[in-house]
Amino acid sequence: MKTSLLLMILALTINGCKENTNSKQKLAEKGESSRKWWKEAIIYQIYPRSFKDTNGDGVGDLKGITQKLDYIESLGVTAVWLNPIYSSPNDDNGYDVSDYRDIMSDFGTMEDFDHMLSEMHERNIKLVMDVVVNHSSDEHYWFQQSRSSRDNPYRDYYHWWPAEKGEPNYRYSLFDEKGDAWKYDSLTDAYYLHYFSQKQPDLNWENPKVRKEVYDIMHFWAEKGVDGFRLDAFQFVAKDTSFPAIDDDLEKNFIEHYAVQDGLHDYLKEMYEEVFSKYDVMSVAEGAGRNFEDAHNLVDADRKELNMAYAFEGVDIAKPEGYSLKHFKEVFTKWEREFSEKGWLSIFLANHDQARLVSRFGNDSPKYRAPSAKMLNTFILSMRGTPYCYYGDELGMTNGNFETIEDFKDIAAINGYKKVINENGDVDQYLKNLRFSSRDNGRTPMQWSASEHAGFSTGEPWLPVTDNYKTINVVTEETDSSSVLNHFKKMVQLRKSHDVLVYGEYRLLAASHPEVYAFSRELDEKKVLVLLNFSADDAHVELEELSAISDTLINNLDIVDIVENRISLQPYQAIIFSLN
Ligand code: GLC
Ligand code: CA
Repeated sequence: MKTSLLLMILALTINGCKENTNSKQKLAEKGESSRKWWKEAIIYQIYPRSFKDTNGDGVGDLKGITQKLDYIESLGVTAVWLNPIYSSPNDDNGYDVSDYRDIMSDFGTMEDFDHMLSEMHERNIKLVMDVVVNHSSDEHYWFQQSRSSRDNPYRDYYHWWPAEKGEPNYRYSLFDEKGDAWKYDSLTDAYYLHYFSQKQPDLNWENPKVRKEVYDIMHFWAEKGVDGFRLDAFQFVAKDTSFPAIDDDLEKNFIEHYAVQDGLHDYLKEMYEEVFSKYDVMSVAEGAGRNFEDAHNLVDADRKELNMAYAFEGVDIAKPEGYSLKHFKEVFTKWEREFSEKGWLSIFLANHDQARLVSRFGNDSPKYRAPSAKMLNTFILSMRGTPYCYYGDELGMTNGNFETIEDFKDIAAINGYKKVINENGDVDQYLKNLRFSSRDNGRTPMQWSASEHAGFSTGEPWLPVTDNYKTINVVTEETDSSSVLNHFKKMVQLRKSHDVLVYGEYRLLAASHPEVYAFSRELDEKKVLVLLNFSADDAHVELEELSAISDTLINNLDIVDIVENRISLQPYQAIIFSLN
């Protein structure tokens, strides 16, 4: 046995999950103000419809989440973000809210909510709520009033275009079967605007009454004790309400024309004044604007707007035909560099709008599913920025079994399909893409056990359980020390006990290596080296840093193979070393 290998195996046993008080002191000297609970948070995202059903109707519910809080606590995560749980006709699974102060009947009651929240707090788990206020449901009281007559007091809560002015200029809708964001309503002979589905009319943020309603709603939840807000599609709320013609391919460039338009920062400053400044809550917006300048302006603490925003560039890299690791590294490094001095990032590779992490960014074949899922979780939990881990990814859950269009439930998939037909497009190609990238892939029921319906429900689940649940599930993985789940837990503990993984400076190494993502993190005298093989081949990398290894902090495989400054990594191997 090579001496270096022996050394490494010895080092494995002294796994250093201990608190590093020194680096904490140094950080404090730099300015305590840069330290925030939400920077240190590890957020677990739950899609409530699919997490745990307690009454056998096939739909997850709040009681189910409460029932599984011991499990969530066992993961070590510090906060939960729930997709919308408000009353909704579920055109877009809760992203079409009909009452912002009530709980969706499928999910339970306000009493269930209060109980869930207090049980979370009992376990020191914080709760982040989704706030969906670019639009409401068309079944919301405001919209019912608004559409009823042109002089109704709620008319200006939404964007209406009177038909006598002629057809409004084209606006692109993300979910409409014709791609048209204007819907004609004969009741008042006018069109209303909907960037998403026809049942999601856009609210008019120019109206101070609308903004006041939203702040009141946020107060209602903040007073209950929720710890944070995720602002859905918020970058779209400001609009040029003269609706001028847009001389461009709007469908391709809608971010350019819809995101962070004039007025948005004023709304956020007002929201900060009215809500965020009054509570110890974190705030994160979906979307980081059109460019770095937008992103900075959203999250620069001195501007008093938001704590964080999600940038999509990283999550959008994976394509059905694959992706290049070089590109992946460039994107994450670029964003990291841009926010190294100021502002704070969100780190995620999956959520309810994406297919599964391991199927998109890793390798879901039986041989490589587990190592690649562990490798990706290592990545998410070792970058600077607040990590968001999507339910089921801690198990390495894969894409679901979807074949024909009838198998899909998502409004985006169904209306997208109709749109392709309307436009005489390539239906087979569309379906092929959908099987890989549909949002339904990421919404299948949580795989709790090998029993019927994966232990998610006693009834028929609203979306079928993925057929690999007999091997990929919580019960099986809890008892297997080498499971994706146990690796996830270890990685969470490692991050929580090593400030360097939260606050440390990031440096990309071996930038042009096509298979290995290598980077270091450094905080004062503490330094770690992260090595991730993103490929299904053995890979080698030479790094000076390898001569300074003091300890192996985590390794998803049993081997460490180093000769001098050269390490050989197995397919999808992920290792973090601490360095002298
Ligand atoms: C956001 C949500 C998505 C939803 C859309 C409309 O993008 O993440 O799930 O469909 O907004 O609310
Ligand atoms: Ca239920």
